[in-house]
Amino acid sequence: MTKLWGGRFQKTTDHLVEDFHSSISFDQRLYKQDIQGSIAHATMLGRVGVISPEEAGQIVEGLREILKEIEEGNVEFDVAAEDIHMNVEQLLTAKIGAVGKKLHTARSRNDQVAVDIRMYLKDEIKEIRSQLRELVETLLNLAEQHLSTVMPGYTHMQRAQPITLSHHLMAYVQMFLRDMDRLADCYRRTDVMPLGSGALAGTTFPLDREYTAELLGFAAVSDNSLDAVSDRDFAVEFCAASSLIMMHLSRFCEEIILWATGEFAFIELDDAYSTGSSIMPQKKNPDVAELIRGKTGRVYGDLLGLLTMLKGLPMAYNKDMQEDKEALFDAIDTVKGCLLVFRPMVATMTVRKENMAGAARGGFTNATDVADYLAKKGVPFREAHEVVGKAVFYCLQHQKNLEALTLEEYQALSPAFAEDIYAAIGVEYCAAARKVRGGPAPEAVQQAIGVAKARLREI
Ligand code: ARG
Repeated sequence: MTKLWGGRFQKTTDHLVEDFHSSISFDQRLYKQDIQGSIAHATMLGRVGVISPEEAGQIVEGLREILKEIEEGNVEFDVAAEDIHMNVEQLLTAKIGAVGKKLHTARSRNDQVAVDIRMYLKDEIKEIRSQLRELVETLLNLAEQHLSTVMPGYTHMQRAQPITLSHHLMAYVQMFLRDMDRLADCYRRTDVMPLGSGALAGTTFPLDREYTAELLGFAAVSDNSLDAVSDRDFAVEFCAASSLIMMHLSRFCEEIILWATGEFAFIELDDAYSTGSSIMPQKKNPDVAELIRGKTGRVYGDLLGLLTMLKGLPMAYNKDMQEDKEALFDAIDTVKGCLLVFRPMVATMTVRKENMAGAARGGFTNATDVADYLAKKGVPFREAHEVVGKAVFYCLQHQKNLEALTLEEYQALSPAFAEDIYAAIGVEYCAAARKVRGGPAPEAVQQAIGVAKARLREI
């Protein structure tokens, strides 16, 4: 097949080069956007009189048929036609004849590929945002069930202070709400229509770019033709937002993996979201969570790959940019795939409340509360800290916890201790007493749940 650009060439492309630079194997997934973009372009050309309304009608008709044929699986793409743009044009000309050759008037593959990816990404952002919305709803639901499920909060992976599972889950709700926000922001900058920028320098034809944008559902039209064909900021932003989503999922997965160990035993994963071992009959492994943690690196790689690909590019389009698609598609597929299994994995896990509470009772998680008790009795906090440090040391030597010390033992450490110390240091009480806004007390978390629900409605 002769090339659509073959006029100035005397020799054919080496077959090695043909395979090397062809992108049809991966950019065929843009077929729908490519055809929609072409339909809008042809319609606009017909309206402004660059081609006749009849010609526009024939082109649009032909493109619609091609779309249908591709969707029915009746189209075999041609590697020699390089990419999806030239494949569609070739199919069109084969179908409707010479008039098909007018479609590419006042257009270049450079503005064409830009419009295609933007349209594709816009749909995917909407999809991922709705997956995140469902995940947040699942977490809010779980948080409502576990308002008084006490567990230890950790710093340095050492038990620190008592919190509630609800509070812990709501930390992730905050992260995923920010992720949704970031995607909305990225969407705004993706929603800009580049057609009319041509190869790099616009066009001499009197295009109605606003009309094309309106037909394609874009909110804005690009303002500089050089930038419009070489801008992939939106793809970088998407990969950055996706990297954060993956990082959040990965941290959550790391906790799920730990919590599912026999040593923690805070949760049990549903059989449907765990896997066994081919040799060790007893094993029930958190493979799903591990795989999500592992796939996080791929998405970081996609982001770094894109940034590195773009960093040395002079204005305007360079073929390097064809490398944008595999990175972008991989990030999209990975994030979507992970969110798809993560949500039901969390929704179906069983919480071992007794083990969480038991762990909160050990490890002196109420030591701060003993110090706070003294501070409330007028002992300067730094002194109170010292006294309780000694109390903990004493307990360690006598294998007791702080609740088990007698009043005499307490008073030997500080005369400020009285009978009411015991009511102030039960771990349930310690969690429930942290009523400060943003804290783990049930009423504070309940309020945070309300705020999150309101945000979810407006995001
Ligand atoms: N397949 C190309 C890409 O993905 C389309 C643009 C090609 N433009 C060009 N001048 N070679 O970037």
